[in-house]
Amino acid sequence: MSVAPRAGNGKITVPDILSRKSHSPAGSLEAKPKITCLTAYDYPTARLLDEAGVDILLVGDSLGMVVLGYDSTLPVTLDEMIHHLRAVRRGTRRALLVADMTFGSFHVSLDDSVRNAVRLIKEGGAEAVKVEGGERRIELISRLVEAEIPVMGHVGLTPQSIHAMGGFHVQGRTNDAARQLERDARAVEAAGAFAVVLESIPRDLGARITEKLRIPTIGIGAGPDCDGQVLVFHDLVGLTIGHKPKFARQYANLSAEISRAVTEYCDDVRAGRFPSDAESFHSPSEAREHVPVRQRT
Ligand code: KIV
Repeated sequence: MSVAPRAGNGKITVPDILSRKSHSPAGSLEAKPKITCLTAYDYPTARLLDEAGVDILLVGDSLGMVVLGYDSTLPVTLDEMIHHLRAVRRGTRRALLVADMTFGSFHVSLDDSVRNAVRLIKEGGAEAVKVEGGERRIELISRLVEAEIPVMGHVGLTPQSIHAMGGFHVQGRTNDAARQLERDARAVEAAGAFAVVLESIPRDLGARITEKLRIPTIGIGAGPDCDGQVLVFHDLVGLTIGHKPKFARQYANLSAEISRAVTEYCDDVRAGRFPSDAESFHSPSEAREHVPVRQRT
C-alpha cells in the first residue's frame, strides 16, 4: 500500500518538508521554495496533482463537505476516510500523503487514538496524519510521534470545532485570542509535529507565528507569509457547491464546463447525433457491405 521513499527518487518526505522552513533557528530568513499542498479524495485527481508537482496531498475531512454532501466535517467516519485515502494512495507517487484524523477518532483514549492513526498508515497508506487542535493535543501528538507516526498540526479555525466556535469565523482577532493561538502553535511544535496548518487567521498573526516556529507553517486564509499554502481542490477548480471562503482563489470553472458538456451530450442523444456511425462497432458482414464494390475482389 505505501510508497517507500528511496534517496534521490524525488519522493517528498517529512524531512524534506521540514527543510523547507524559511526562517532558520538563528532568526535569519533564507529563501526556500514555498510548500504546496492540496486536498485530494480520489485516484484521478491524485494522479493529476502528483504529476503536476504538488508537494503534499491531503486527504482532508473536507471530504465530507465537498464530496460526500454532508453539511460539516463532523459526520465523516474513519472508514470513509480510509476508503478515499486508499484511492489517493494508488494515484500518488511523489507527494507526501497526509490524512486527517476524523472527528471522534482521536477524542477517545490515547491508546484508541493511536490505534486509529495506525489504521490510516497501515490500511490507507498515509505517511503522516493531521490532527486539529493546539495545547489540548500535546499528549496525543507526543504519543503519535513516539509511535513513529509523523503529525501535522492544525490550529486557528478548526472545522471540527464548529459547534464550540459557533460557526466558521476568522480566529485570533483579539489580543487574547492571538496569544492563545501562538501558544497553540508552539505547543503543537513542542509535542513533535513536523508542520502546522494555520487556518483563517489575520495575516500579521500568520507571519508572527511563522517567524517564531522552527517547523513550517502551511496557511489557508492565513496570508502570504506562511512557509506554504493549502487549498481545498474543489475550491481551486470551481467545483464547490455553496459558500466559497474569501481566501479560496478559483483558478478554473469546472462546474460551468461540466454543465456545458453534459447539456451538449443530452441534446446530442435526444437529437440522434450521438453516437455517430464512426463511434459504433460493426459486424464483419456489415463492414463488407459498406466496402465500395471496386475494392471487393
Ligand atoms: O480538511 C481539510 O481539507 C483541511 C484543509 C482545509 C487544511 O483540513
